Amino acid sequence: MDISVIGAGYVGLVTGVCLAEFGHRVELIDINPDRIRLLQNGVSPIFEPGIEPMIVRNTESKRLWFSTTLDGPRLNQCDVIFIAVSTPASSTGDADLSYLFNAVDQLIPILSSRTTEYPAVIAIKSTVPVGTNQLVQDRFNTAGLTDKAIVVSNPEFLREGAAISDCINPDRIVIGASCPEGFQRMKNIYHSYIARKIPILEVSLFAAEHIKYASNAFLATKISFINELALLCESTHTDVLEVARGMGLDPRIGPSFLAPGPGFGGSCFPKDIRALGAVGACNGLQMKMIESVEAINHRQKQHVITQIQDRIAGIKSPVIAVLGVAFKANTDDMRDAPSLDILPPLLKRGIRIAAYDPEAESNAKLIFGDTVQFKSSPLETATGAHLLLILTEWNEFFDIDLYSVKRVMEGNLIVDTRRVIDPNVAAAAGFNYYGIGRA
Ligand code: UDX
Ligand code: UDX
Repeated sequence: MDISVIGAGYVGLVTGVCLAEFGHRVELIDINPDRIRLLQNGVSPIFEPGIEPMIVRNTESKRLWFSTTLDGPRLNQCDVIFIAVSTPASSTGDADLSYLFNAVDQLIPILSSRTTEYPAVIAIKSTVPVGTNQLVQDRFNTAGLTDKAIVVSNPEFLREGAAISDCINPDRIVIGASCPEGFQRMKNIYHSYIARKIPILEVSLFAAEHIKYASNAFLATKISFINELALLCESTHTDVLEVARGMGLDPRIGPSFLAPGPGFGGSCFPKDIRALGAVGACNGLQMKMIESVEAINHRQKQHVITQIQDRIAGIKSPVIAVLGVAFKANTDDMRDAPSLDILPPLLKRGIRIAAYDPEAESNAKLIFGDTVQFKSSPLETATGAHLLLILTEWNEFFDIDLYSVKRVMEGNLIVDTRRVIDPNVAAAAGFNYYGIGRA
């Protein structure tokens, strides 16, 4: 089928590349010319494991190509036009839909001259509050495009770092639509998924929008639950990892999203729970659980800051070595990374910070400038430091040689917010170890 994807960010790019992999002809459109230039040269503008060979393979097979402009004739031949532009949180917490409506407004004059016998399906991938897809349909209808544009909601459930496998082997595909043709066109796109018995949910536009926010809010709730429990475990001389394992083996609870940490971050959870809260407020409903999830997440970061400050209190001119600044492992994404909340208050107190991240360094430098000294290895980062702070669970930190690290450090403190280090090994190497959620 002929597909266009507007917005070649983390979601649009992965979606477009995977659809090309399944044999569709896909044009990826993005207003950012640097991004498109990189893609045209076979280079991924984001770090996402496995994506680059797929970009190259599908470009060479002429199933995938890139553009900075909306090409009218091509879009008018398209079976489906995906919109995957960002919907960041506005200053009031609700989703900023300006990029989405900007894309819709650009499509209106193009689709007005559509002459194919069948309408275009506009599939909204961007995460949008309940009612937005209907507003988009209304906008097309008001412009006289009732018979030329069918809006469907097709939310994404891609975890950065695992986005390719999530896209190829999803738990489910959610299609929200208000007419049979909308459902059918989307099922044609996903026919190889149907063949593989991947569940396809056909629901209303509103339900599809809610499913996306509710899923992210529920996952964030699990994390805040375990993070709150982690703090209780610290006071009650219990290891929260033992508790999480004992809970997770109950299939009604499940083991995933019960890893304690420095608080959740990323491009979705923080903004989506805020947006869901804003939808609640709009509808006269205080979203008490969501508010608590956010408050606990905030407290978790403050807790990490306190743990660090308490440990370095007596040190003159303390230096901290930070391992990992990305919001999670296997991504270069810094959006709402816990490091952005945890490091600035320390810098403000005059603490020197060196950091290492295998992939996020260049994005982090855009934010931290030269206030944080970036190094090229964990050992170089640790050199001369009083405290080693682990903020991201990159694989390479699990097997770090703590004896070598100890030799180059000035102090012997570890604050491990991801529980990547074995406390017994840390003690044997001479460290004073603190791991989140551990007595
Ligand atoms: C996506 C979603 O669409 C968002 O709603 C969801 O909650 C998270 O995932 P993401 O792919 O992470 O966003 O955003 P980003 O990586 O910022 O990519 C958006 C892309 O759209 C950028 O490359 C940007 O240049 C492009 N864009 C933005 C356009 O092409 N046109 C616009 O008008 C605005
Ligand atoms: C999320 C959703 O999982 C995905 O379905 C889609 O809706 C986009 O948003 P993403 O933000 O890429 O994906 O990563 P995810 O793995 O969900 O992690 C989000 C945050 O939660 C990270 O900061 C991560 O470190 C944290 N987290 C996750 C924990 O602290 N503990 C956990 O057990 C799991």
